Amino acid sequence: MDFNSTVLVTGGSGFIGSHLVCSLVTRHPDWRIINLDILDYCCSPRSLESVEDRANYTFIRGDVCNSQLVNHIFNTENIDVIFHLAAKTHVETSFEAPASFQRVNIEGTKVLLAAAHQAPHQSQRFVYVSTDEVYGEGLDQVFDESSPVRPSNPYSTTKAAAEYLVRSYWDKYKFPIIITRSNNIYGPRQYTEKVIPKFLTLLQMNKKCTIQGTLPKSRHFLFVDDAINALRLVLEKGIVGEIYNVGTSCEILIMQLAKELVKMVKNVPDSEVNDWLEFVPDRPCVDLRYPISCEKLQQLGWRADVSWTEGIRQTVKWYQDNADFWSDQEPIRSKLEKVTNK
Ligand SMILES: NC(=O)c1ccc[n+]([C@@H]2O[C@H](COP(=O)([O-])OP(=O)(O)OC[C@H]3O[C@@H](n4cnc5c(N)ncnc54)[C@H](O)[C@@H]3O)[C@@H](O)[C@H]2O)c1
Repeated sequence: MDFNSTVLVTGGSGFIGSHLVCSLVTRHPDWRIINLDILDYCCSPRSLESVEDRANYTFIRGDVCNSQLVNHIFNTENIDVIFHLAAKTHVETSFEAPASFQRVNIEGTKVLLAAAHQAPHQSQRFVYVSTDEVYGEGLDQVFDESSPVRPSNPYSTTKAAAEYLVRSYWDKYKFPIIITRSNNIYGPRQYTEKVIPKFLTLLQMNKKCTIQGTLPKSRHFLFVDDAINALRLVLEKGIVGEIYNVGTSCEILIMQLAKELVKMVKNVPDSEVNDWLEFVPDRPCVDLRYPISCEKLQQLGWRADVSWTEGIRQTVKWYQDNADFWSDQEPIRSKLEKVTNK
């Protein structure tokens, strides 16, 4: 079968990647979607089972840092669009193992850019999926895309470094890149090390939600469907060479989040909510909040459609209905058994 377009998604088996792949495969039967993913510990084969037999879906298991493999893909497939999501993503782990974050997040981006740029078939878009964390902490300041980049942890530092590589291909070659920087994304199928699924999994195990430190840390939470719509819109209407913040005004204190989830999962009266919270030591370095302005993306026509109430309801229900989804991931289960907050 002939396809109108070929899209390479790196990290397409991860949380956001799998939602993006499912969306592209089902909405665009005339596009061929290739997923390049190493299948790290945070992936489940079940995330893509709804599309794995589709004629327009191809999976390649491999390392984005493997230049031989990546060059081969670009030399043999006519890749029109790249969504680059493959990355090491867990902030706490980045303090313990920064080298692996540098390798995948920076070196992997370098390999992919070089292969895409030298490919015989010129790609039309290279969308790099970055994070609000590159701005660093914003206590009384809202970041727009021109704000300075001041990453403060090993994860965000590697994402910022990769951004600079991506931007250099625009500056030097006018290679058609676009960068997105998004808030915390949540929803079904997210691996249990991130805060919402971690709290839900702990509560399902009859354990307390672990609150890191005593500082008033908050995050802005964006439902995954809205994030995918933003990526699709940026591909369709985004201007090459530009950066787009992707976010929401839904800011929630982590303490408040834990309390809300306790009430939803445990169904306890207010007087008993605190019994399900436990304070643990904080990470070595913590940003209290990342407020961003999304006017630029909104001017393209994007709005977050899913309210927090609806998004968290769907998410809690999914984790309740799929309690066994991550049960084969013993490392995280045993980590949670020890009730650390790492
Ligand atoms: N989740 C969020 O809240 C959020 C917010 C902003 C930006 N992002 C960015 O979005 C992207 C996806 O995040 P996610 O939450 O889905 O993360 P995730 O950890 O669920 O997925 C990452 C994916 O990358 C793959 N991967 C890791 N190393 C690889 C390698 N060497 N070669 C090929 N594949 C490799 C993993 O197997 C996994 O499928 C990341 O680049 C992340 O920085 C995430």
